Amino acid sequence: MNPTPETPGPAPEEPGHAPEAAPATAPEAAPATAPRAETDADADAAARRAASFERQRRLRQEPRFPGGPAADPAGSHHERRIRSFQPRRSRVTAGQEDALQRLWPKWGLDIDGRGVIDLPTLFDGLPVVLEIGFGMGEATAQMAADDPDTGILAVDVHTPGQGNLLGLADRAGLSNVRVANGDAIILLREMLAPAALDGLRVYFPDPWPKKRHHKRRLIQTEFLDLVAQRLKPGAVVHCATDWEPYAEQMLEVLTAHPLFENTQADGGYAPRPAFRPLTRFEGQGLDKGHCVHDVLFTRR
Ligand SMILES: C[S@@+](CC[C@H](N)C(=O)[O-])C[C@H]1O[C@@H](n2cnc3c(N)ncnc32)[C@H](O)[C@@H]1O
Repeated sequence: MNPTPETPGPAPEEPGHAPEAAPATAPEAAPATAPRAETDADADAAARRAASFERQRRLRQEPRFPGGPAADPAGSHHERRIRSFQPRRSRVTAGQEDALQRLWPKWGLDIDGRGVIDLPTLFDGLPVVLEIGFGMGEATAQMAADDPDTGILAVDVHTPGQGNLLGLADRAGLSNVRVANGDAIILLREMLAPAALDGLRVYFPDPWPKKRHHKRRLIQTEFLDLVAQRLKPGAVVHCATDWEPYAEQMLEVLTAHPLFENTQADGGYAPRPAFRPLTRFEGQGLDKGHCVHDVLFTRR
């Protein structure tokens, strides 16, 4: 994401940019019996009823797409913990919906916190890299196509992106991508074994530019403590951002962490590795004249 300070310029269809309560699609947002709004007060009341209907549906854990990803599988949206993403609803295209319904049973995985995933079985013995926050998944699909000998466990909470990535992987005939639905923290904490991962990629994580939101940033010491337990020795953590203060934070917390070592002898940013494709958010950042930094550290 590529915000200007304090005004992150929402783009409602984009991951990471949606407002707190994005408008729900009509059939799910409003019960069929909802009266037609005639005045502003009626409209407000209808909106409140629709929001409450949506909350109830979520609490019942009803999926939006039969056979597709579960709604808020581990209840993360209702946790009091500070999250690195905002609960939101975004429109899903017909193509994404088709991919979710057709391909989720084969390639999808709900982060329900109910057991440790057997990664060697899931990826037929390939080394596995976790990508947190793949957005619409174009870069993920590209990396999977470029390196079929590495499995990518791609996690995001963004339903349209999940459908998009499944569709891309299907059309490209990829068998080394799995799409996880839910909060990466719960995935790391509850569902991955110690030393299960061969790498971690976090590309253009939400920068949370306002000072009071800095606590929501993903890359901080507590997160690295957890990540360090899930990575094999020698595994690489690769982060990239176009938000200068966040790049500085990434470098600072990784440098200070005793279990990580900078791949760069000078202790600074890394040159952009050839394997990282241009991502959607990176493109937007470059259009705004932002400078992109890659940070690559090895798990000791
Ligand atoms: C700014 S977007 C970047 C998307 C993509 N990497 C790119 O560069 O175009 C950040 C993404 O991270 C996801 N995200 C943030 N925190 C997450 C978490 N704890 N678990 C899973 N996904 C998360 C958001 O939903 C969003 O799609």
